[in-house]
Amino acid sequence: MADLTTKLLGLTLAHPVMPAAGPPVRDGEALLACAKGGAAALVTKTISVKAADVPTPNMADFKTYFLNTELWTELPPEQWLEVEYAKAKQAGLPMIISMGYTAEEIAEMAPKVKPFADAIELSTHYIADDPKPMQDAIRAAKVAGVPVLVKMSPFREPQPAAIAAQEAGADGIVAVNSYGPAFGVDIEHGGKLWMGGKGYGWISGPALKPIALRMVYDIAQVVDIPIIGVGGISKGTDVVEFLMAGATAVGVCTAAITKGHSIFGKIARQLDRWLDQHGYASVEEIRGLALKHDVPQMTKPPILVPERCTGCNQCVISCVYGALYLDENRKIRIHEENCEKCGLCISRCPVNALLPPEE
Ligand SMILES: Cc1cc2nc3c(=O)[nH]c(=O)nc-3n(C[C@H](O)[C@H](O)[C@H](O)COP(=O)(O)O)c2cc1C
Ligand code: SF4
Ligand code: SF4
Repeated sequence: MADLTTKLLGLTLAHPVMPAAGPPVRDGEALLACAKGGAAALVTKTISVKAADVPTPNMADFKTYFLNTELWTELPPEQWLEVEYAKAKQAGLPMIISMGYTAEEIAEMAPKVKPFADAIELSTHYIADDPKPMQDAIRAAKVAGVPVLVKMSPFREPQPAAIAAQEAGADGIVAVNSYGPAFGVDIEHGGKLWMGGKGYGWISGPALKPIALRMVYDIAQVVDIPIIGVGGISKGTDVVEFLMAGATAVGVCTAAITKGHSIFGKIARQLDRWLDQHGYASVEEIRGLALKHDVPQMTKPPILVPERCTGCNQCVISCVYGALYLDENRKIRIHEENCEKCGLCISRCPVNALLPPEE
């Protein structure tokens, strides 16, 4: 068993997987279900000074991506303070309390949540691009005397925002929130819109993962505070990617909606198995590995391992340069002179029969 212990903001977590703000943490009961499902810490649904008036319909799943037009919590802050936080605390897990949005609103709420909060997470989703409102919100939250995380939205330039957040005293970054606005049409029902409100939604789930990874990778290069990676995580290998890109821990929202609360423990077990199978003793060993590599330049064709090839033809079809073919035994072969070193076939092979060349 690999050591999954994760140190974050002075807390020691059993592993790096926790929920991200959204329906799976919509109240105290749901937070207890996350704990039961194996989450290593809890992140609560974003509160604001008043309950949100959430449009309906507000969620739709398209497998490779998910659309939502939820806002913050539909519960008034008093209910969180009087009932929900205390209930969630029964889980005995560290609790990160999400809130938004302006400095004035944060100044009002941060001291009130302090008795329940191991850290505060600030959503910047609805505040202006200019870093000043974010910095003011961070300074307002710091008054509570607990670590403050700032959650970045993926349509902003991450590095200047992360630097500004660190300068204002942020103790960590959460990257990212959902992306949008985006649009979908229900073709089976006369072209109806999928989303209520303005008719637009925000993208989460698998399609968001590469954007979130890029944000984590960029941010990790300019700040030295920890990053919680969020976006499209549904399995252990997704966590491996985020940790290698520089995240310390990860958050899961959409996969907990579509697959249920047991996803947290499941992802942690998959992460453990992957580390074991790949000879890594701990999550620490893989953290930031991608940051140590130079940007690759492919100057030679891929290395072929024909004995692994199952003859599935996937790489041959997609080699637009016609460099690959199957021999009479349905094993992979290459016309090296045709290979333009695009690299695609390496990612297409399901059995690792095509490897990056040693440069
Ligand atoms: C239905 C829904 C509601 C969400 N509500 C919040 C919220 O209240 N506060 C927040 O910071 N992020 C919210 N998010 C964003 C998620 O926390 C997360 O950052 C984003 O969905 C990407 O992660 P995922 O692909 O694992 O869902 C919400 C996402 C969804 C899908
Ligand atoms: S690297 Fe690109 S061009 Fe070369 S064999 Fe693979 S897919 Fe074809
Ligand atoms: S994708 Fe892999 S297994 Fe399939 S034909 Fe190409 S080399 Fe063989």
